[in-house]
Amino acid sequence: MTHIADAIRNQHISGDGTFSKLCHAFLENELGVPKVLLTTSCTHALEMAALLLDVEAGDEVIVPSFTFVSTVNAYVLRGARPVFIDCRRDTLNLDETKLEALITPRTKAITPVHYAGVGCEMDAILAIARRHNVAVVEDNAHGLFGKYKGRFLGSFGSLATQSFHETKNITCGEGGALLINDPRFIDRAEVLREKGTNRSRFFRGQVDKYSWVDIGSSYVMSDMLAAFLYGQLERWPHIQAKRRRIWESYNRHLTGWAEEQNVRLPIIPSECEQSYHMFYLLLPSFEARQALIAFLKERGIQAVFHYLPLHLSDMGRRFGGRPDDCPVTQDISDRLLRLPFYSSLDESTQNRVIEAIQQFRP
Ligand SMILES: Cc1ncc(COP(=O)(O)O)c(C=O)c1O
Repeated sequence: MTHIADAIRNQHISGDGTFSKLCHAFLENELGVPKVLLTTSCTHALEMAALLLDVEAGDEVIVPSFTFVSTVNAYVLRGARPVFIDCRRDTLNLDETKLEALITPRTKAITPVHYAGVGCEMDAILAIARRHNVAVVEDNAHGLFGKYKGRFLGSFGSLATQSFHETKNITCGEGGALLINDPRFIDRAEVLREKGTNRSRFFRGQVDKYSWVDIGSSYVMSDMLAAFLYGQLERWPHIQAKRRRIWESYNRHLTGWAEEQNVRLPIIPSECEQSYHMFYLLLPSFEARQALIAFLKERGIQAVFHYLPLHLSDMGRRFGGRPDDCPVTQDISDRLLRLPFYSSLDESTQNRVIEAIQQFRP
């Protein structure tokens, strides 16, 4: 709260004030990323990535079917055609073994999504992208402070995006960030984010007036939200530790029940340090998943499913999505259930959830 009061006292509550600069520097130092720019959302950071890559009509972009619409919409808004890739059975991340077969001379970008903050197989993805000269944009909406082979998620692609939406580990209600690992994109990113003007250079005293130099939009986060966000970032190890305890408690208490009931718990590969964003169950069938939702609801517990396969949505079908394209995505989407998971979830409430689940027989 004191940060927000300070932002107001500073009389600078529009973008790129004191707290935005603090957040930028904090994230750059902490993650080891050359440039971070706060945005109004992860959706907008993805849109900026599509603009920076000059994605245009006729281009193709490889995206998971098992993701949030924004991962795909950002490119579709530029006229590109999404090519949907299926996911792995273990992490539910895009299946890198299917990647190379989907690349064509029109492929402009690949967007791995680190589902639940567990890293995609980045070595293989980057090697394939390099071989075909295709950009990689990590959608790291779930994975802030998660790691793959000791390196922070979001530091692998030329560009990466974060979400600070209320549902994320670190939040300011609505917000996001563009992480720029390829320095060639930095200058233009500043312009696109400031309505296509060189306003950022003007404020740094590098030009004597600012003017319209490129296309762009209004992607800058208010400093009041940045003040809220900075308070969260300062406490990230504490927030992450709380979430880790919640995740580990679910895992410990549900392992025996899951084995008996043929339910699968999340799999974290040894090379990944997850961000503790989510805990999910994979029930044996769609019917069992629906029955557990109803069973928990009767006990006052809300548990929810997650993404519906995008290749089978109305829009996905318009782009040629067919039922057999991503069979693993279809299967797991039907069976996945997310358990209540938020930083302030206290032990007794969580125990009530665990005890209810342990009584359920699929
Ligand atoms: C994988 C993924 N990408 C992007 C987004 C969009 O984030 P935002 O709400 O910050 O635009 C979400 C939202 O939950 C998401 O899950």
